Amino acid sequence: MPSDEDNMPDLDRLRRRLLREYRKRTPKSRAAFARAAKVMVDGGSHTMRLWPPYPFFVRSAEGPYVRDLDGNTYIDYWQGHYANILGHNPRPVLREMSACLRRGALHTGFEAERQIELAEELARGLGGKGAKVRFTTSGTLATMYAVMLAHGLTGRELVLKVGGGWHGASPYLLKGVKYRAGEGFEGRDSAGLLDDIVRRTLVTRFNDLDDLTRVVRAEGDRIACFIVEPFLGVGGFLAATKEYLETARALTAARGILLIFDEIISGYRFCPTGVQTLYGVRPDLTTFGKIIGGGHAVSAVVGTREVMEACERGHGGRGRVQFEGGTFSAHAEYMTAGLVMLRRLASGAATIYPRLAAAGERLRRGIERAFAEAGVPARTTGGGNAAVAGSSLFMVHFPREKDIAYDRPEDVHDDRRSNVALREDILKLALLVNGIDIVHGGGAVSAAHGEKEIGATLAAYGEAARLIKKHLG
Ligand SMILES: Cc1ncc(COP(=O)(O)O)c(C=O)c1O
Repeated sequence: MPSDEDNMPDLDRLRRRLLREYRKRTPKSRAAFARAAKVMVDGGSHTMRLWPPYPFFVRSAEGPYVRDLDGNTYIDYWQGHYANILGHNPRPVLREMSACLRRGALHTGFEAERQIELAEELARGLGGKGAKVRFTTSGTLATMYAVMLAHGLTGRELVLKVGGGWHGASPYLLKGVKYRAGEGFEGRDSAGLLDDIVRRTLVTRFNDLDDLTRVVRAEGDRIACFIVEPFLGVGGFLAATKEYLETARALTAARGILLIFDEIISGYRFCPTGVQTLYGVRPDLTTFGKIIGGGHAVSAVVGTREVMEACERGHGGRGRVQFEGGTFSAHAEYMTAGLVMLRRLASGAATIYPRLAAAGERLRRGIERAFAEAGVPARTTGGGNAAVAGSSLFMVHFPREKDIAYDRPEDVHDDRRSNVALREDILKLALLVNGIDIVHGGGAVSAAHGEKEIGATLAAYGEAARLIKKHLG
């Protein structure tokens, strides 16, 4: 007698099969998840980590690898939400952290010298003179404070962002992140937001000069800031065009709007500072996070002196923006890790970045080739453009139509254009059971990924491609 599974569309059958295999390999993670689900929201601590049916739970991590509770090893391209550009537990950071702990430098709540050095590194990268820095502990907080600064300084009520732009879960910016059929990137992305705040956040189309010009012409005098990732992360690993950022700079300057570049993913990923230096476009404020903490909770807002004055004591009274950073802001241990990381990236830039770029390119080309050979149409993003060329990021897409440009987040997230479930779910499982950990069909290469890991990854994509083809028919 045929089973239920035999009557399923083929991709569902493949999914079932992969789930069975994954469950078989990960009984301890399954038990850990069941235990976590009793006491923790959704059984964990971050939506992106809690993919179905349950994530593997990690016991240890080293370079490009993570090992789970069941002893499975994965080549990891998630790499700490893309923070670990040197891989997990990089030696220089570990060495310095151990020394720091032995010296008893594990303190918080005081000012210490390391934070000055890290601030100097960040400011120097952006061209130095006059830049001022304040640290906090997450990307979400950095973008929240940046927007508060803009509101405080301009006295204006509107915030402009791009559809598909993710800046963390700050109430100002939880709109236009998720793509929804019929609504596009216009909707609110969370309950619990005041209607007023949602109304005051405007969304424009990424890389669309006309739309940006239209919004700024119409609402310019009410807009406090335009916040944009010069290299869109979660939105699809898409580079802004140079013309787009130059126009954004000119339009915002002309209307007294602050331009904020969110470089929480792009910062230090392409060169040892923000990608704004590659574009040659200077914003008023920059947010950094992820890589700059050397694996720890560090983020920063870097701005021109005139803008950062809005949160300085001298600004005085009720006009001052209360940018406190938080209890663990500039924690001595975190500052140490961040400093080692940035110095290592600066001193090794001539070899690290070209190597990352070459590995990224090899993966993007190799994955496209693997799917083409299997007869499954697939495209990758992440390669950047003439302004930001060397990229270690990659995302895989399954176009439903032939001529999709993949230069807007709509191309990536609209299920009518790309088969989102195939990327997010089936491809993920197909690679997991072959020991490769990806997110959104790909991820970020680290400097610890070598020939061996890249080769094994391409082989696993090849196998996944053949499997998918078999079930697509
Ligand atoms: C561009 C960008 N901005 C802000 C954030 C939020 O950072 P965090 O998760 O540290 O709050 C993220 C996180 O992925 C991000 O990618």
